[in-house]
Amino acid sequence: MVIALNEPLDRHLHLRDEKMLEIGAPLSAETFSGALVMPNLVPPVTTQEAVVAYRERILGCAKNSSFTPYMTLFFRSDYTPQFLESVKEDILAIKLYPAGVTTNSDGGVEGFDLIELAPVLEAMSELQIPLCVHGETGGFVMDRESEFIPIYEKLAKNFPDLKIVMEHITTKDAVEALDRYENLYATITLHHLYITLDDVAGGLLQPHLFCKPIAKRPEDRAALLQAALKAHPKVMFGSDSAPHPREAKEAPGCAAGVFTAPIALQALAQLFDKHGALDNLQRFVSDNAKNIYSINPPKKEVVLEKTAYLVPEMYGGSVVPMFAGGTLEWRVVSAG
Ligand code: DOR
Ligand code: ZN
Repeated sequence: MVIALNEPLDRHLHLRDEKMLEIGAPLSAETFSGALVMPNLVPPVTTQEAVVAYRERILGCAKNSSFTPYMTLFFRSDYTPQFLESVKEDILAIKLYPAGVTTNSDGGVEGFDLIELAPVLEAMSELQIPLCVHGETGGFVMDRESEFIPIYEKLAKNFPDLKIVMEHITTKDAVEALDRYENLYATITLHHLYITLDDVAGGLLQPHLFCKPIAKRPEDRAALLQAALKAHPKVMFGSDSAPHPREAKEAPGCAAGVFTAPIALQALAQLFDKHGALDNLQRFVSDNAKNIYSINPPKKEVVLEKTAYLVPEMYGGSVVPMFAGGTLEWRVVSAG
């Protein structure tokens, strides 16, 4: 069995810099037509010069003309409307991190004072710049996303013309919130469709599956699966693929992040095939995102075939992917 996907898009990708960028960028560029690139570098991407320079570094490493890095800016509440207007042409969205909730987010928003955030959010709304949010509170780890839902609701209500993307949702609560507000959208990762907390910590600890938000309960995964498999029109694939060197994962103080970019389409094909939903995969990995972000990515056709694919143990001698050393049922035959 063979399927073709046109212009696959990854709506949430960490490409990082230097060695990680050199390893990851060509891999994403091979099978994706575009990716929304996260700004949590050290220091974070907060200026127009930094956005432009980072895009150049990505293009330099990607070495693939049919790949567009869609850039984001790290949310700051002191951006002026003039600055946002001038940077608008270089970015597709702004990413908001609550301070300290995940990797390199220390410069994020402290507390959630809507009055303090309002001027930037209003300007974004007027300029039609979408807001992407890492929606977790500082509460108990399993409850952080659910506790954040009222904040999403406040944002959605107070800024009805602002497109708000709930990034990497992991709970049934978030799936339900999607349909309550017209301006709420969501990305779903590969790993949250496959795993629950049991896969991370139910047996021997699996550091390569440790990520933020942490994987949740079976009923949460079931809700995510349902939304993804039917390609709910407000839901997009966003891998949240987040490479860390092996020594940072297999260590006390294991870094959060699952590296999925090079095996994402194969594993999605396997999952959608298993559930008899292959016909909806094109919408989940591309069409919904094209509509939501009004983008026209470079043409790319990726052909996948139902043939066993052995996942490499490591990429670039340093990054361990999800399913490392395992077998997936689908492989990429061609991309171009
Ligand atoms: O697991 C994660 N890793 N979640 C995030 O939100 C950030 C990411 C990273 O940058 O490593
Ligand atoms: Zn992320």
